[in-house]
Amino acid sequence: MSNYPAYWQQEADLSQKNTLAAPCTAAFYVEVKCEAELVEQVQSAKSLNLPVFVLSGGSNILCPERIDGLVIAPRMQGIEAQAGDDHVLVTVAAGVNWHGFVEHCLSQGWFGLENLALIPGLCGAAPIQNIGAYGVELCDFLVSVRFYHIERDCFVELSSSKCEFGYRDSVFKRALRGKAIITAMTLKLYKAPKLVCEYGPLKAMFSDGESTPKKLFNAVCELRRAKLPDPQKIPNAGSFFKNPIITEKQFLALKSSYPEVPSFPVAPGYVKVPAAWLIDQAGLKGQSVGALTVHSQQALVLTNPQCESLGAILEAAEIIAEKVNAQFAIELECEPQILEALKL
Ligand code: EPU
Repeated sequence: MSNYPAYWQQEADLSQKNTLAAPCTAAFYVEVKCEAELVEQVQSAKSLNLPVFVLSGGSNILCPERIDGLVIAPRMQGIEAQAGDDHVLVTVAAGVNWHGFVEHCLSQGWFGLENLALIPGLCGAAPIQNIGAYGVELCDFLVSVRFYHIERDCFVELSSSKCEFGYRDSVFKRALRGKAIITAMTLKLYKAPKLVCEYGPLKAMFSDGESTPKKLFNAVCELRRAKLPDPQKIPNAGSFFKNPIITEKQFLALKSSYPEVPSFPVAPGYVKVPAAWLIDQAGLKGQSVGALTVHSQQALVLTNPQCESLGAILEAAEIIAEKVNAQFAIELECEPQILEALKL
């Protein structure tokens, strides 16, 4: 491996670049600050026959111990706005910190993202899992996503309607999985406040009907800080499992044994059940299970206090999922995905 660019970092330690703090070493690592640099790195890796991996903020990813390839970290910066009558079209680069972006929008009077405050990670990763919290999802505001198409070797601007957004899901996890490197996205935000205060705890906080975007933003920050551990202090990747969607028939059977089971309607005939509730009912909240600890404030968050490796993390998560399955006959699906190579 002699012809690789000298500025690629060799044997890079990525244990501090994934919020679960899983030990991880990459053969090569490079940060890119613009689209041209990105294409250059992909081409170099291709010519060296090196697999390519893309690492964003590392807050929703499972990193293996060894990555034999080039890890590219998109770090493009920049926010551009184009004002309309009642809205603003805001284009944000992939490397911008998501929470910083939410704060910036609020300070500019571009409203809508308040419920998505404090979600860790960078903007480029946000469309992949369609980040969502407190009754709002990214897709509610997304106009288009710009990405480098690995196979077609060109940049593509994909409109929101073609992103196939769903709950923690998008085309970037399916047909475009391993084929797209997101470099920017455009959102439509509003000049007048657009407050969503229906989600349980928010509803209670704003029962007097008095809310402003700033108050809502502060309330969301307060709720998250109270329940979700700071990954800087306790390694974690937020919700470890998706909330399972079950059929209404399954739900009625569950409800007959557990009348208090919480649920959210999703589509006709289907119901979403909080994975946190299932894990909590399985008696695991606050417990250590192998490498992981089920967070004492939110049972869906699994922490990795000893900074154990991916194998140990998956083993522990499997035990938790099996316990839930044994009690409720419901399968839990991992939310963060294992970092995998692009399909060059
Ligand atoms: N619950 C329990 N025990 C717990 C925690 C919750 O029984 O320890 C039950 C309660 O009944 C509660 C329900 O579960 O009403 C839902 O809990 P919560 O409101 O905390 O939300 P969640 O469904 O567990 C989802 C997202 C979070 C997001 C919150 C708020 C997923 C996988 N997770 O969690 O997203 O912040 O809603 O909207 O959809 C993330 O993706 O990393 C994340 C933190």
